Amino acid sequence: MNLNQIIKARLISQAQIHGPIGIFDSGYGGLTIFREIVKQLPQYDYIYLGDNARVPYGIRTYETVYRYTLECVKHLFNMGCRLVILACNTASAKALRTIQQRDLPLLDPYRRVLGVIRPTTEIIGNLSRTGHVGILATTGTVNSQSYVIEINKLFPQVKVFQEACPMWVPLVENNEHESVGADYFIQKHLHQLLAQSSEIDTIALACTHYPLLSKKISAFLPEHIKVLTQGEIVTHSLLKYLEHHPDLEERCSKQGQTAFYTTESTEDFDKKATIFLGHTVNSRHLEL
Ligand code: DGL
Repeated sequence: MNLNQIIKARLISQAQIHGPIGIFDSGYGGLTIFREIVKQLPQYDYIYLGDNARVPYGIRTYETVYRYTLECVKHLFNMGCRLVILACNTASAKALRTIQQRDLPLLDPYRRVLGVIRPTTEIIGNLSRTGHVGILATTGTVNSQSYVIEINKLFPQVKVFQEACPMWVPLVENNEHESVGADYFIQKHLHQLLAQSSEIDTIALACTHYPLLSKKISAFLPEHIKVLTQGEIVTHSLLKYLEHHPDLEERCSKQGQTAFYTTESTEDFDKKATIFLGHTVNSRHLEL
């Protein structure tokens, strides 16, 4: 056996090992995706990793988001994950493609990393009657143009209007999302989005932190506008993916357990995650 064959044989044997599904976000936002996934697919094991020490990603450069995301994906792989979901639009917009195309073949071609943008764009064009849709997201996601590009590929007739909301993630991360102060920033960005087109009838909350603001967002919007959150959309897409990839599905361990990791204080994570999930969480610290 030459070296390449030895490496290949080793990768194949590693690919036989069972492991949890990794869910990654820059902070707490991915918990809005995780809670839907675990509701629909409780049989699998999960590792949730929040990079709370370096949140927000939305204001950082492409290189930084890519570097941070890759580092966290590698940690999840080292913890045994066969499949990692980037439950973060910013990481999906700025790092997913490079990780899939450049890093995965070298790291381990038998593992998979999936994002949250594609599943959202696949359905948004069918929901709008006017063909005018709004995207509320971080500055990084908006500047990447990922939503505009992906929606236009699938629904060329749909017009996409975007608004970056740089204050919304800090409001959620700092537990200020239900405060009166939050109203100002929510109204400001909704107003700026709707000023771009009076025909917008569907708006995607294209940042996994934003569902925590959805009550206020809906209250400030005219009733005819549909507001889309990503938890159920991503869960449905994951379900389909696992159905179509039985080899990978078999490698996902199934004891119905979840481990939570944060790169910041576990005490803060536990308090906040308990609010997001409605049950007690005991996280562990991950040193980067
Ligand atoms: N929750 C992340 C997203 O979906 C981003 C938050 C951040 O700025 O770190 O885009």
